[in-house]
Amino acid sequence: MITFELTKTPPKSGYCPNHMILTATDLSPRETYSFLAGAVAPRPICFASTIDAEGKVNLSPYSFFNVVSGDPPMLAFSPLRSGRDGKTKDTLNNVLAVPEVVINIVDHAMVEQMSLTSTAYPPEVNEFEKAALTQVQSESVRPPRVGESPVSFECVVDRVIPLGDGPMAGNLVLARVVCIHVRDEFAPGGTFDPTLLDLVGRMGGNDYVRAIPESLFEIPKPVRSLGIGVDALPPHIRNSTVLSGNNLGRLGNAERLPTEAEIAKAAKLPAVAQARSQGRESLHTLAKDSLERGDVELALRILLG
Ligand SMILES: Cc1cc2nc3c(=O)[nH]c(=O)nc-3n(C[C@H](O)[C@H](O)[C@H](O)COP(=O)(O)O)c2cc1C
Repeated sequence: MITFELTKTPPKSGYCPNHMILTATDLSPRETYSFLAGAVAPRPICFASTIDAEGKVNLSPYSFFNVVSGDPPMLAFSPLRSGRDGKTKDTLNNVLAVPEVVINIVDHAMVEQMSLTSTAYPPEVNEFEKAALTQVQSESVRPPRVGESPVSFECVVDRVIPLGDGPMAGNLVLARVVCIHVRDEFAPGGTFDPTLLDLVGRMGGNDYVRAIPESLFEIPKPVRSLGIGVDALPPHIRNSTVLSGNNLGRLGNAERLPTEAEIAKAAKLPAVAQARSQGRESLHTLAKDSLERGDVELALRILLG
């Protein structure tokens, strides 16, 4: 972890004075990097399998990685130049020589093996062997896929965009997906269920997160209609000392405000009448309980009464 000793200067905008403000000139590239990698997280991990012009296999993890297009289906990842000497990584050299890559997804069962492959082995070393991972022949591209991965994407490299030429400069590899492999257990009955994947994400430094069922949560949102928005709510709700930002967000996702009749009906409920007699805070607390039980309609009726 990197800590900073900074003299706090008032922000030019005068806004949010409780924020630490760092400009690029305050920081070395390595310090900037630790903010980027620490705060843009958790990141998915691209376990990239490539080959060089002689067919030698390479396997390495890249967490500067994401989906960037649905049609054409494109993934992007970025091998940086070395922070020490500016040298390019084997994965980048390989995709420039043979523009094909298999992007294997990393689950918790293989996270230690994945980490081992990030060691800076020389180009002739096959990291599949170093990490005891199974090299499986691909369908449409020459680099092999990782047999243990829950999902693998065979890709053709569409283009590589260098983002600089000094140490730590990124090289954006845009990879078009041509074939997808999903292990049977993650598609029971032929339907892909991503919640079954025990995925890991990269945080800053050596930290990872695990997307286990207990850490998953759902946010219902209107897909076909528009949410009313928090700005459609009266000021006493927007400025509530009881309702949190998440509570307001959930209210703003409602598809419509309740009618006068619905509000009047809710006002007659004994719990609502009692809360009202105790003041606005009690009413908001009652609405908050109903929101957190998932009943947005009732919460709105209580709040607007
Ligand atoms: C989880 C994880 C994610 C990584 N992400 C990146 C990344 O996005 N970009 C990068 O340049 N290096 C990244 N690295 C470091 C590379 O994996 C490492 O430099 C590796 O030796 C590169 O191998 P290669 O030269 O065979 O391509 C990551 C390492 C780990 C463990």
